[in-house]
Amino acid sequence: MIDKIKIETTVNNVKYSKRIEPRLLASDFIRENLHLTGTHVGCEHGVCGSCTIKINGLTSRSCLKFAIQLHGKRVETVESFSSNPQKKIILDTFKKFHALQCGFCTPGFLITVDELLQTENLENEKEIRKALSGNLCRCTGYENIIKAVLELKNNRKTK
Ligand code: FES
Ligand code: FES
Repeated sequence: MIDKIKIETTVNNVKYSKRIEPRLLASDFIRENLHLTGTHVGCEHGVCGSCTIKINGLTSRSCLKFAIQLHGKRVETVESFSSNPQKKIILDTFKKFHALQCGFCTPGFLITVDELLQTENLENEKEIRKALSGNLCRCTGYENIIKAVLELKNNRKTK
């Protein structure tokens, strides 16, 4: 029997205090303990990007983190997009350009694009493709995802 440890973390502006096994992955903690199932788990070894979350404002693969590494941290998952107007614009633009099909990869893309729009000065399609190369999509061929991000970039520039 493994001793459980207590972690306290803030996810999407909600504070949680949970007792967990030390080996529990952050992705499993988010999905199974917090029931935030928008964070998807694909490859489980850091390749596909579908499990991407933000920890203290920076993107991170939740399948490569232990839940205890979220202790004292501010976490954002894709569920935060529905209540945040800035993020909702990203969601709506993905819908406008049909930038998703099955939607499995979409949470990871949305979180990644949110970070890119705040931190990178992406000028063109080539730079956007490179910046998003850590997120894999099996359905869309990426074209409409790139179009959505281009529109988001252009709209931010004109504001
Ligand atoms: S499930 Fe984490 S990167 Fe694929
Ligand atoms: S929309 Fe299906 S994997 Fe990307």
